[in-house]
Amino acid sequence: MEQLASIDAVRRYRKAVSGSLGFVPTMGALHEGHAVLIRRSTAENDATVVSIFVNPTQFGPGEDLHKYPRTLEADLELCAREGAAAVFTPNSAMMYPAGFTTWVNVDGLADKLCGRSRQNHFRGVCTVVAKLFNLVAPTRAYFGQKDAQQAIVLTRMARDLDMPLEVITCPTVRETDGLALSSRNRYLDPRNRQRARSIYKALQAAETGLAAGETDVATLKRACWAELDGNVDRVDYVEILAADDLGALEAVDKPALCAIAAFVGSTRLIDNVILAP
Ligand code: PAF
Repeated sequence: MEQLASIDAVRRYRKAVSGSLGFVPTMGALHEGHAVLIRRSTAENDATVVSIFVNPTQFGPGEDLHKYPRTLEADLELCAREGAAAVFTPNSAMMYPAGFTTWVNVDGLADKLCGRSRQNHFRGVCTVVAKLFNLVAPTRAYFGQKDAQQAIVLTRMARDLDMPLEVITCPTVRETDGLALSSRNRYLDPRNRQRARSIYKALQAAETGLAAGETDVATLKRACWAELDGNVDRVDYVEILAADDLGALEAVDKPALCAIAAFVGSTRLIDNVILAP
């Protein structure tokens, strides 16, 4: 496996590679959720590139940029084990050279859910992913459904900007008790790790309600809140929106994204399920 530590290196690599190229952009602190993306990419493409870059522009003031886990050695091992052909490890000076002033915004979609409480988050995500797509020029790029809004926003960005690649969203990987895998789970102490289970339980409450015939969005959201109440420290949002365009819904009469963001201790966790009527 090659480690590409400069923009020139990744461009040279891209020129030399033939056939289809899969791409898994990450911020490192890799876990089984990332391994699943890499595995799918290696199964569907001739070669796979993983990028590892903790992108400063998608963190707001007071967020966890500086304490975000950095585990490069272990990440490289995981990438090699899962069959990645190359890992691109740029730094901030390469990605955002002095005078950098061009941003990618996906209006509308990026303003809801996480975009409401994390101002400029998706501007940072879209800008860095657009740059990575330009450099890596993949055939297919893989993202996790756990970050559902990110996947929807990036799919729209690629479509709107005629980027010649396929954006593929892969199912969320969970612990046996349902907690969605996330690099931020390592912030949780044992007590908060237990309490964090309530997020998936809340999503399941909406699924159970729908399965029992309840389609009213307000009622299903109340069922989620009931599970979260007392188990998380602050709820950022509980939303049920149209799964395709994040439009408002009063009833689940088409596929809907049921999404939660909540703080357990000081750790902000997100998760979601698709409610299919
Ligand atoms: O999902 C992530 O890890 C990041 O948001 C991404 C897509 C790598 C962009 O920095």
